[in-house]
Amino acid sequence: MEERKLRELLNSLNLDEKIGQLIQLSGEFFSAKDVSLGPQKKLGITKEMVDLCGSVMNVVGAKETHRIQDANLKNKKHPIPLIFMSDIIYGLKTVYPIPLGLGATWDPDLIQKAYRNTAEEAYASGNQVTFAPMIDLARDARWGRVLESTGEDPYLNSRFAESMVKGFQEDLPKYGIASCIKHFAAYGAVESGREYNATDMSENRLRQYYLPSYKAAVDAGAKMVMSSFNTLNGVPVTGNKWILKDILRKEWNFDGIIISDYAAISELVAHGFAQNNKQASKLAMDATVDIDMKSPCYANELKPLVTEGELDEKKIDDAVWRVLKLKNELGLFEDPYRGSSEELEKKSVLTPEKRQLARKVSTEAMVLLKNKNNILPLNPKDDKEIALIGPYENEHELLGLWAVHGDRKETVTIKDGFKTYLSSDKLLTAKGTDILRDKSMLKGIGLSEEQIEKIVSSDSVEKENNNKALEIAKKADIIVFAGGEHTIESGEAGSRGNLTLPDNQLQLLNKLFELNKPIILVNISGRPMILTDIEPKLTAIIQAWFPGTEGGNAISDIIFGKANPSGRLSMSFPYAVGQLPVYYSQFSTGRSVKTSTHSSRFMSKYLDIPNDPLYSFGYGLSYSKVSYDNLRLSSKEMNGESDKIVATIDLQNKSNVDTTETIQLYLQDKFASIVQPVKELKGFKRVNLKANEQKNVSFDITSDMLKFYGPDNKLTIEPGEFNVFVGPNSDTDQYDSFELK
Ligand code: GLC
Repeated sequence: MEERKLRELLNSLNLDEKIGQLIQLSGEFFSAKDVSLGPQKKLGITKEMVDLCGSVMNVVGAKETHRIQDANLKNKKHPIPLIFMSDIIYGLKTVYPIPLGLGATWDPDLIQKAYRNTAEEAYASGNQVTFAPMIDLARDARWGRVLESTGEDPYLNSRFAESMVKGFQEDLPKYGIASCIKHFAAYGAVESGREYNATDMSENRLRQYYLPSYKAAVDAGAKMVMSSFNTLNGVPVTGNKWILKDILRKEWNFDGIIISDYAAISELVAHGFAQNNKQASKLAMDATVDIDMKSPCYANELKPLVTEGELDEKKIDDAVWRVLKLKNELGLFEDPYRGSSEELEKKSVLTPEKRQLARKVSTEAMVLLKNKNNILPLNPKDDKEIALIGPYENEHELLGLWAVHGDRKETVTIKDGFKTYLSSDKLLTAKGTDILRDKSMLKGIGLSEEQIEKIVSSDSVEKENNNKALEIAKKADIIVFAGGEHTIESGEAGSRGNLTLPDNQLQLLNKLFELNKPIILVNISGRPMILTDIEPKLTAIIQAWFPGTEGGNAISDIIFGKANPSGRLSMSFPYAVGQLPVYYSQFSTGRSVKTSTHSSRFMSKYLDIPNDPLYSFGYGLSYSKVSYDNLRLSSKEMNGESDKIVATIDLQNKSNVDTTETIQLYLQDKFASIVQPVKELKGFKRVNLKANEQKNVSFDITSDMLKFYGPDNKLTIEPGEFNVFVGPNSDTDQYDSFELK
């Protein structure tokens, strides 16, 4: 529709119709049966406002979205189509590994392809917007939502933010889906890793570390932004004019839709920021939050605010205009179904090509953390019996909490994958124990007795499972233990204070350790876990994340050597919970253990645990051995901002196994008016190295890489000495130096 006509449409709407466009409700409000005594009553909004509602959340499928759209268009005087938005975060029906695993691929180009596939599935299924990517910086593994983040580094997160937004949106407006990035802003810094808790930091830290990935996504063209639940420096983001209006809209020129997180506008009252829903609505409107997700605020309060002269109707017009513009850009006025159909849906989801890509992504996400005596890869032709034991042995729930629309029946389990490599006489399998047996925790989060029984076996069954596992373990030559955390323990509202494997898994593992056989742990989790106590007794460790629909195949491809692991951690694995938040780009402090001259006590350290994580950012092994030598710079001086320096390093694959190596470039600004980390990722390259192949790899170092937010919170650059590190992970101490003149 021409913009002129769209403006005419806006001007023709009455106040109720305009407010309706700013309301988002979930699917149950649009079921075929009467919902007046159900969700409407519960939420406290009228049927009239439901009928005027402008967008629907978390309904997928061409059939259902068409049904709701048809009913909507019949009800409305003005034929404004609904827009369907859903949490399609790392896959719809073909589900990829969780984003923390995608971050470990260090392969934004591949992930862009994956997200384009997801957009295809979503488009065919009648969705036009996804509440993704989530690009919060995550440095505290106690927080369950680290699952959804690509990790602890602003630079790496920014590269993925760009690629994910582009993947979703590259075929817009005719195809593809619009990206709603979240959760703006700094939600990943919740205090103590406790869900929905406060975040508090200096503006400098916010700009330097927490905002870059959102900015990268906005610059990549993200159509929408979701305001987060948390307070930021005492002001809830969803009512925070400074972060939403002054930074996002004015400084970054974002003129798209801002949608609140779920009921976050009404939560301004619970925060103690608004006295009632009316004031909450005013504060959110003043902060330019356009759509109220699933709260009664805008539906009930905007009209009286306008009629009583407390809210300028122009603010509502501006918000409605942004909503209508997106609907128009996506062609909904010409085709309210936007090309979706049951037929197209059938042809688009879970195709062999999409599964193949998911399998490749999942193998690239796997991180080999330990491989003592090079026990991996296993050779299926060896005359050895393999015992696959553990709660994830044949578990279909490999998708992770936020694969809300995924079909677990479609998952390839680890046992399925093993069976494609091993004949039945060589493969022994047993569950051994449940994923978890903590009934009180499950009850505490509202699960029914019946639901709990599906997760926690009876004591007699548990005992039987244990015995069966020990029996086959005694027969086997090698044990693969598939364990980890339960999907319900991670993701939103999944904060935890204890990050080791649960007692029941540890008890079984300890019995297996007594057999003195090689044990390979495949860890399924949505977060870095504490593996410190069991690491010495494990022969090998593979961090598999929640690996997605093709997870069982990907894990098997890695274990049996069809794929050479190339994953590198994008978030540190802590040595102990007491270290959290732990991340590589720390400040030196005035008493660094590495450089301090004070006595061994009076330094920045713990008395009882090391400073370093168990596994660092960027760490991961492969089946090859790659040497890094002869780091050299094209010059020891950078003369002014237009100059650049080239850093070169010699690589050699000292093995007869082809590999993909992720070379990482870190810089350190040694002296600055705001102290800078001991090292910061500024570049990386994935390089294929054939067996025994040598390659020189170079990085351009430009002045942009040296900029930081100064005391005035403006980007600045200061002359002085810089260290250049190039290596396989953030622990690398191979460096050279130059001076910026
Ligand atoms: C949830 C999450 C957000 C999600 C939204 C809609 O509470 O915080 O990530 O997109 O509600 O489901």
